[in-house]
Amino acid sequence: MHIALLSRNRNLYSTRRLIEAGESRGHSVRVVDTLRCYMNIASHRPSIHYKGQELEHFDAVIPRIGASVTFYGCAVLRQFEMMGTYVLNDSVAITRSRDKLRSLQLLSRKGLGLPITGFAHSPDDIPDLITMVKGAPLVIKLLEGTQGIGVVLAETNQAAESVIQAFMGMKANIMVQEYIKEAKGADIRCLVVGDKVVASMKRQAAEGEFRSNLHRGGSASVIRITPEERSTAIRAAKAMGLRVAGVDLLRSNHGPVIMEVNSSPGLQGIETATGKDIAGLIIEHLEKQASIPRKAPNKAPPKPKG
Ligand SMILES: Nc1ncnc2c1ncn2[C@@H]1O[C@H](COP(=O)(O)OP(=O)(O)OP(=O)(O)O)[C@@H](O)[C@H]1O
Ligand SMILES: [Mg+2]
Repeated sequence: MHIALLSRNRNLYSTRRLIEAGESRGHSVRVVDTLRCYMNIASHRPSIHYKGQELEHFDAVIPRIGASVTFYGCAVLRQFEMMGTYVLNDSVAITRSRDKLRSLQLLSRKGLGLPITGFAHSPDDIPDLITMVKGAPLVIKLLEGTQGIGVVLAETNQAAESVIQAFMGMKANIMVQEYIKEAKGADIRCLVVGDKVVASMKRQAAEGEFRSNLHRGGSASVIRITPEERSTAIRAAKAMGLRVAGVDLLRSNHGPVIMEVNSSPGLQGIETATGKDIAGLIIEHLEKQASIPRKAPNKAPPKPKG
């Protein structure tokens, strides 16, 4: 297969591993810088141009679209879809997963476990919002945050109220969430490829910290997940319409609750923690899927509603 790897930087660990895995399985892999793709969207024959030339035909596209380039990246990916190219994760699924509120609403509709989560606009509604998520301690999250930045633990209702007021005053979009204390600063990352969890790791927050992000000093280790956690992760990826996803769970007293579903999960942490060749499994999945005949160009696979 001739594979396009949509990525801004060929030196990133995940990009390098996917190139390696693709080439070692006999494919050619070209790294295409997402932001250097441009296109005439109204043309009768959809195509993509790149650094002055029309891009060649690809059998499959692996999107690795960073949060900061979601909008443009998804437009590029959509153009590949219009050209009938097989894409590992499609643009609608990626857009859906990048919106934290939309994702949680969608997961909730599928009956999946979530921390109690509230969202409000008016400062007048803050006291009731706090009651709605069962009061402090609670977690306040900036919708645009990543790597743990913008996630605040408020230990008292008073602290919660003033932090929410401050965020609202800055016109920042936030959600307020029940604090899953019993998770003890740990979360579980499940890597879903197709309809399987191919690897999972536990991330434990550093001493005195509740956020388990590796960027915040968290440490990763292998973990055995329960059948319920496994099926929750698979159903979550499916609900989002993602074929490859990193599903983050917390172990709560009422079973696994989903924090987030990531459409471009990093491979470094999970490959290092588990010693598994995840990049190889992704390419293997791509080989199987891309070889299934598709009906016609412009027809993406059926997508879940929302
Ligand atoms: N409701 C909660 N209860 C307990 N701990 C939580 C809760 N929400 C978040 N955390 C902790 O804080 C960390 C960061 O939260 P979250 O993953 O929601 O934001 P983020 O990492 O900044 O965003 P992204 O994952 O999109 O980069 C989590 O990994 C988890 O350890
Ligand atoms: Mg996170």
